[in-house]
Amino acid sequence: MSETLTITDNRTGKQYDVPVHDGTIRATDLRQIKVTPGEFGMMTYDPAFMNTANCKSRITFIDGDKGVLLYRGYPIEQLAEQSDFLETAYLILFGELPQQRQYDDWTHEITLHTMLHTNIAKLMEGFRHDAHPMGMFISTLGALSTFYPEAKEIFSPESRRLQTVRLIAKVPSIAAYAFRHSIGRPFNQPDNDLSYPGNFLSMLFRMTEPRYKPNPVLERAMEVLFVLHADHEQNCSTTTMRTIGSSHADPYSALAGAAAALYGPLHGGANEAVLKMLHEIGSINNIPAFIKRVKAGEGRLMGFGHRVYKSYDPRAKIIKRMADLVFDVTGKNPLLEMALELERIALEDEYFVSRKLYPNVDFYSGLIYQAMGFPVDMFPVLFAIPRTAGWIAQWEEMLNDPDQKIVRPRQIYQGSPPRDYAPRDKRK
Ligand code: ACO
Repeated sequence: MSETLTITDNRTGKQYDVPVHDGTIRATDLRQIKVTPGEFGMMTYDPAFMNTANCKSRITFIDGDKGVLLYRGYPIEQLAEQSDFLETAYLILFGELPQQRQYDDWTHEITLHTMLHTNIAKLMEGFRHDAHPMGMFISTLGALSTFYPEAKEIFSPESRRLQTVRLIAKVPSIAAYAFRHSIGRPFNQPDNDLSYPGNFLSMLFRMTEPRYKPNPVLERAMEVLFVLHADHEQNCSTTTMRTIGSSHADPYSALAGAAAALYGPLHGGANEAVLKMLHEIGSINNIPAFIKRVKAGEGRLMGFGHRVYKSYDPRAKIIKRMADLVFDVTGKNPLLEMALELERIALEDEYFVSRKLYPNVDFYSGLIYQAMGFPVDMFPVLFAIPRTAGWIAQWEEMLNDPDQKIVRPRQIYQGSPPRDYAPRDKRK
């Protein structure tokens, strides 16, 4: 027997049986609930989609209470331990882990597309010397749609596949170009004999040496950070990707929008905000006073709290462990002790405990990035590189989902009732 939810409308005394599937009712099934036939019908009010499923998805599963994160069913801990970014990206995009042959072809395909058109380099050179790399990254992604106009053939699987490969291959190159521009150094061309993160490090940090050899610990750390950030179901930037994609914009334009959403300090900008916060606190002695201010509502403890995780973010656990390996190579980040003490105090404090506020992925990632030599401005860019895989997978899923249409929410209008236009000299 199919499940239904029975709703009684006290205004009319009528009863409605609304079908329940997957523990969910369709909001449009509520439209039949009306007092008079001419009415629009009942809507739900859900700012920020706190309790609204916007899609059915097979990509990523999160259990926020238990701290579980799965990509296509595989636990994030196993992927971080045993996989690499390109394999994980393949899994997220195509649903299964690749066989050896598929893995080799996929890696080869990505490697063939790492180079940027020289006009893209010229375009990026046009930015001011102090331009924020994320602003450069977002603008360049948008500009890519003019280089690949066939990308608007979004219903062609071949075109989608080509743009997918191009995007995954080129985002590290764009990110590295943005970084090199901001430090006033010439762009480094990709080195296709290196791994995906190894090549990225080479494009960032190679100076006069003919061949850049990435430190294996830092290369692996970059790989793991990329795996951890590859997808996170319906977050703000992914929802933006799906929303822009729903109007059938090309994937470069949609991805530029998703990256813009990621830029904000409540989302991908949070690790930058964590470091700023640690600098502002200044010393361990100032932590109690800082916590007091947060509890009084004068600011937030950045890198803490999550819309979905109401326990320790599993990615934060992996990053915290990895920090020690990285710091063995780079030397300890002096802010680490402050972060550890901040975490210890917060996790014992009733304010944070009762609100289930735990460290999220951004609490420690910034410390690692900084120790590896990245300026804080680069942090959201480092997040956007791997998340490109998730954004594209979600976009593809949306396009192939017969339930999806152009996104167009409703509103509760609270403005003026109809009134007549008055000429300027007659206005009160
Ligand atoms: N510091 C202090 N208090 C907090 C924090 C925080 N970091 N986060 C939430 N709270 C408090 C709120 O003040 C609120 O308290 P109240 O009930 O007394 O009003 C309660 O906890 C619930 O907070 P909401 O804002 O309703 O939680 P929401 O789910 O909307 O916000 C968010 C989630 C945006 C991540 C929030 O926790 C936050 O701002 N954190 C800091 C920024 C951050 O680290 N963002 C990165 C998120 S992970 C990512 O995007 C990769």
